[in-house]
Formats: sequence, structure tokens, C-alpha cells
Amino acid sequence: MFVKVISMSVIGMESYPVFVEVDTSQGLPQFATVGLPDASVKESRDRIRAAIKNSGYRFPRSHVTINLAPADIKKEGTGFDLPIAVGILAAEELIKEAALQDCFFIGELSLDGSIKGVSGVLPATFKAKEIGIKSVFVPEENAAEAAMVEGINVFPVKTLPDVVEFLGGRSSIEPLSLDISKIFQKTRKYDLDFSEIKGQKQAKRALEIAASGGHNVLMIGPPGSGKSMLAKRLPTILPDLSFDEAIEVTKVFSIAGSLNKNEMLIAIRPFRSPHHTISDAGLVGGGQTPRPGEISLAHLGVLFLDELPEFKKNALEALRQPLEDGTITISRSSVTASFPAKFMLVAAMNPCPCGYFGDRVHNCRCSPQQIRQYQSKISGPLLDRIDLHIEVPSVKYRALSDKELGESSATIRERVNKARDLQKKRFGDNGIICNARMTEKQIRNFCQIDEEAHKLIDMAIEKLGLSARAVNRILKVSRTIADMENNEAIKSSHVAEAIQYRSLDRSLI
Ligand SMILES: Nc1ncnc2c1ncn2[C@@H]1O[C@H](COP(=O)(O)OP(=O)(O)OP(=O)(O)O)[C@@H](O)[C@H]1O
Ligand SMILES: [Mg+2]
Ligand SMILES: [Zn+2]
Repeated sequence: MFVKVISMSVIGMESYPVFVEVDTSQGLPQFATVGLPDASVKESRDRIRAAIKNSGYRFPRSHVTINLAPADIKKEGTGFDLPIAVGILAAEELIKEAALQDCFFIGELSLDGSIKGVSGVLPATFKAKEIGIKSVFVPEENAAEAAMVEGINVFPVKTLPDVVEFLGGRSSIEPLSLDISKIFQKTRKYDLDFSEIKGQKQAKRALEIAASGGHNVLMIGPPGSGKSMLAKRLPTILPDLSFDEAIEVTKVFSIAGSLNKNEMLIAIRPFRSPHHTISDAGLVGGGQTPRPGEISLAHLGVLFLDELPEFKKNALEALRQPLEDGTITISRSSVTASFPAKFMLVAAMNPCPCGYFGDRVHNCRCSPQQIRQYQSKISGPLLDRIDLHIEVPSVKYRALSDKELGESSATIRERVNKARDLQKKRFGDNGIICNARMTEKQIRNFCQIDEEAHKLIDMAIEKLGLSARAVNRILKVSRTIADMENNEAIKSSHVAEAIQYRSLDRSLI
């Protein structure tokens, strides 16, 4: 007998329908899979056989052939266990073929017949809806994410018998239906707030500029000065995520297998802070089955690299392309996958190896040579993509014990939104959305400055030893500062402030 069951292969951000074709025929007992299944699909044969037997069903004593079609699509992951088992049991007529109409199955089987969660259920369910599927059968732990897709029945299943008995009409399963807009409203709140940061007026101002223009930043300061604290709160002053953006972020998390059981929607901007010992693949993505890395988990949010000089050169090198393009492509011999990676980069470092160069209280124990060497670790191409260098000095005890709360994130975010609206209008359909992403041509068009401002820049190059390539960054940041004041013209005061944020071009010693 021949039966067809629908499942899905998720490659990169794309999902492809896969038809699990099961044929049972007379002949020697055999269980064969064809259709280019990868190693994990082959392994699934043993799991499926055990799961069927241990669920109390009989595994066919005939010739069983499984074909995963189309052949030219790579089949990734363990999610085919469930559709294959369902197909076999349907071929054995334990399930009527008609019951499989318009259904989609995904899930990994344990040897005892229970169904384990898999990655990529959210994008797979979206695709299922798109191709006209009416009902999806997903592992219970993935049910909430699948329920974020409207207009499709989501059946959470825990065991293989759950599915078989339901499809056989012998039991019922309540489809999971969630109030999506209520969940969206409820989850789009941050636990942290800018008002908790005492003092640090200049650093806060610089982060507001960064948020307003989408600029990458580097914070330089001694241990404990609040760099991590500031960075963690940057997402809270960025514009709110739209529902579609929230879905996009959640899809990446779903594919990475990083969603918790009760986390169906990520409605706030992600903040990711990988440790400096992270592998290249962990940072930018990779693996035999390409998985998103930290830069994609930070998509539409903030990637925080604490102790920047400690990161391996390779890893930082690998960041260059995604910083430019907003996406990362991972190529393997058998498959190529792309993941989005539009993140704001926030890096932090101490000014010197001991951490206290330039500090008011502690003495620095480093030699000028040591300091130069430490700072030069991050010079070059990466630094070129960071518009703002923020000095974060330690806050005096008196300021820390101040009871008064600072400005709230909501208030700052409102101003950021206004500045971003101006930029949207300016760039229109040009495809870029913020000042930080201006091309050289756009800089020439939109960042014209008067004679006084020109003089300031000349002086900065001569007297402070600013590098010439810093000039474009200064112009972009000046544009943002002018936008924050709702000023079409860039004034010399804007340029003067922007020059202050290039401390590493001046070299600190
Ligand atoms: N401006 C501030 N307002 C309120 N609390 C602060 C401030 N600065 C520092 N703190 C307190 O000090 C702690 C340490 O700050 P944080 O971890 O952000 O420092 P850091 O600059 O990242 O240090 P390190 O270089 O060691 O990573 C914070 O958790 C916070 O409690
Ligand atoms: Mg820190
Ligand atoms: Zn030092």
C-alpha cells in the first residue's frame, strides 16, 4: 500500500514542503529510506521502529520503503520521525488515508514513542499555512510557537498513540489557540530601564545618539564603571519592534532551537552577549546543518562584545561582512543557508590591560608600550565600522547613592523615534533606514557642512591627529545629532560633538 504524508525541511530561513512517501509491499522484511536523507534521517529508522513497537503497534513484517521527495531538497533534522511513523501506520491501515488530508506533521520520536521537540517549527508552520494545510501536529513543547500562526489548527501531541488514536477518531485533542495580539502586548516590555543608571550623563547622551542613528558603539572605561549596565539597556531605547519584526526574530530563535517551551513570541529587541571564548561558528553561525549564530540571534537587537580585545582575530574578521550586509550566508558542500543579522554592535573594553588608565582613583600599572599593544588589537577594519567611541569613567560614590531616578527609557525612546522618522523620510525608498548606513554618495548629499564646521574637522585632523577615514564617521554622527534637534542643517556645534566620539582615532596616550 502507498501513503503520502506532508512534512517540512527548514534550511536557513526557508522552509520546503517534503512529502514522506511510504510504500509497503510483499517481500522480505526490510526498512529502506531513499531520497537523499542525511545521516540523522537514516538514524531515525531505528527510533521509528522502536517507537512503533513500544507504543503497542506492530511494525510491518513486509518490505517498507520510505521516500522523502523531492529528492533535490536537503532533508535536515529529526523532525521527520513523526511523519514517517504516521505514514507507516497509515500504510498498515491503522490510520485512514483520508484523515491525513491537509495535515502536516513534525516531531522527533523517542524509543518509547513519546514525541520530542524540534527546531524550526514556527517557520515550518508558516509555510504549511501558505501551501494550504489546515492542521499541524507538532510536539507539545513547540505548540505555543506554532500557535503564533493564525488560521491553522495546531494540535499539540505528546506521544505517537496520541496522534494515531486521534486520527483514527478514537480520541480527541484540543487544538491550541492563543490570543496573539494579547501576547504581543504583554511580552513587549523590558525588565530593565535607563532610569536605573545614575550619573553617566555623557555616556547616556552618546547611547541616545547611537540609538537615534543606528550607529555601532565602543565603550571604553575601567572595571565596574557601568559599561555592561549601559549596553543592556540600549535595546530599551530603540524603536519598538513591530509584530512582523517580532515574528522575524522569533523565527531565528525557533530555527536555533533557542525558544523555551512557554516562549512563543520574542517581542522585544534581543540583547546577546557572547563570551570572548566563543567559536567562530557560535558567533556567526555554522555547523553541518547550518544554524544561526549569535549575530543572527541579535537580529534587530544588540550584539554586545564585552572585553573586545580578548576576542579572536578570526571571529572579529568574520563580523565584517554581516555588519555591512545585514545578513550572513553559510556555505557547506551540500547546502547553502542565509540568516538575517541586522544588529547594532556594542563593544566594550578597558583602556589598558590593568583597566585603570586615566582613572580618577586607581593608578594604572601598565607601560605605554603595553597600552599601545592592547589598543592596537582592535584597530583596523572592525574599528572602521564603529562610529562612536564612548568614554565611560567610573561614577563617584555620591552619584551612585543618589536616590533620584533618571529619565525613563520610554521618554528617550520617544525622541529616538522622532529622529528615526526624519531619517525614514530622508532616505525614502533607498533601502537604508538610518544614518549609520549611508553610502559615501549619500554622505556627500545629506551631510553638507559650512565653512566653520570644515575648519573644525581640519583642526581635529591636524591637532588631535584624527585619521582621515574618521571624517565620514564624524559626518554621519553629526547628521544624527542634527536630526535629534530636528535641524535640516548640520551646525558646527553638531560636528564638534561628533569629533569628541572619536577618541580611539586620537590614540589615548
Ligand atoms: N552609573 C551607574 N548607576 C547605577 N549603578 C551602577 C552604575 N555604574 C555601575 N553600577 C553598578 O556597578 C555594577 C557593575 O557595573 P557593570 O558590570 O556595568 O560595569 P562594567 O563597566 O561592565 O565593568 P567590567 O569592566 O568589570 O565589565 C552594576 O551592576 C551596577 O550595580
Ligand atoms: Mg562588564
Ligand atoms: Zn593600566
